[in-house]
Amino acid sequence: MTIYDCSILELPKVPNAAGNLTALENGSAIPFDTQRVYYIYDVKSGQDRGAHAHKELEQCIVAVSGAFEVLLDDGQRKKVIRLDRPNIGLNVKPGMWRQLFNFSAGAVCLVLASHPYDEDDYIRDYEEFQAYVHDSEG
Ligand code: TYD
Repeated sequence: MTIYDCSILELPKVPNAAGNLTALENGSAIPFDTQRVYYIYDVKSGQDRGAHAHKELEQCIVAVSGAFEVLLDDGQRKKVIRLDRPNIGLNVKPGMWRQLFNFSAGAVCLVLASHPYDEDDYIRDYEEFQAYVHDSEG
């Protein structure tokens, strides 16, 4: 997997004169079945989240309120994606180092995840991540 496998997903939007609604069901807009949902909020100004990779977990990250940026790093290439719309998701494949930063005030980061929480799936050390990617490439 490389950063080029991590794509922007346009999520369905049901417009209404009073406001918009986005509904997500397994088997439609998200390319994996969701087993867990979590959200990050009240991020203090200048604080980052993430700074880790997952071995198996696939995720879809959505700025359901406010905005933030996501740095993706596959060990060789990096890219930064700004998320600022509730109907746009960033599909993050396994094996990507990611860091979330530049949170606006009141931003809420919703994450759909392909597996339950498992600390053993995390790589939290960047040098370990680089070695993991190197070994995976054989
Ligand atoms: P972590 O994924 O390290 O947060 P971030 O990468 O966004 O900074 O999670 C922080 C802590 O929250 C972690 O030590 C355990 C807990 N946690 C859960 O209990 N369940 C979860 O689904 C997640 C994502 C985290």
